[in-house]
Amino acid sequence: MIEVKGLTKSFGSLQVLKGIDLKVEKGEVVSIVGPSGAGKTTLLQIMGTLDNPDSGSIVINGTDIRTLNQKKLAAFRNQHIGFVFQFHQLLPEFTALENVMIPAFIAGKHGKDTKTRAEELLGFMGLGERMNHKPNELSGGEKQRVAVARALMNNPAVVFADEPSGSLDSKNKQELHQLFFDLRDKFGQTFVIVTHDEELARLTDRTIQMRDGLIIQPAQTEIITPEAENNDKNEQVND
Ligand SMILES: Nc1ncnc2c1ncn2[C@@H]1O[C@H](COP(=O)(O)OP(=O)(O)OP(=O)(O)O)[C@@H](O)[C@H]1O
Ligand SMILES: [Mg+2]
Repeated sequence: MIEVKGLTKSFGSLQVLKGIDLKVEKGEVVSIVGPSGAGKTTLLQIMGTLDNPDSGSIVINGTDIRTLNQKKLAAFRNQHIGFVFQFHQLLPEFTALENVMIPAFIAGKHGKDTKTRAEELLGFMGLGERMNHKPNELSGGEKQRVAVARALMNNPAVVFADEPSGSLDSKNKQELHQLFFDLRDKFGQTFVIVTHDEELARLTDRTIQMRDGLIIQPAQTEIITPEAENNDKNEQVND
């Protein structure tokens, strides 16, 4: 599904990615965690074709994206990749429904199917009653769910999310996180999520830890059982 090899990136004399290898399978929900400045956003932007690496390869759905010219890359991004950012980035002058349809318009799809799919997606997000409202008439959680619907509009191979719940209160945060897992269960949607939220990271299938431009814990599933947690607590009590 996604295979990244030997990715490096520098900004001037600062090497931000120092050789990243990473695989993500279809239907996986993977989190990327690590301290501020570790290179998480840079990695996500490069995997999402929004920025170029200095070296290394990125294969998404069988396509080596570094072989594509700018025009083909833009089309590939539109058709195979969805993005959700910390701040929803909806267009304020358009309704929720119109915002969700924009990626289809960019792909040249203006038919009735487009509207139907956007309505279905918004319905799935619990926004069936809110779709004709503009972003400034929606709550933060609602706006973020519209952004998720927009990311899914063209049925992308993968959704890259950069601190998607970073601006939400705990209730909206939990609802958004639940939505990611519902989308995975229902549609087999793949997610790569950069987050500082430990709770979300713990819920994902796999957590990738980054530090100083490197992955420090590759491909390891961290399972915290209730027993292990209790043992930790007992140890602390005994100390
Ligand atoms: N366009 C740029 N030009 C110069 N330096 C940059 C640029 N983008 C990022 N950096 C630097 O690269 C490093 C990694 O940045 P990045 O945004 O990837 O970190 P991050 O892990 O996402 O951090 P955070 O958790 O704070 O979002 C930082 O030191 C940052 O200042
Ligand atoms: Mg970041």
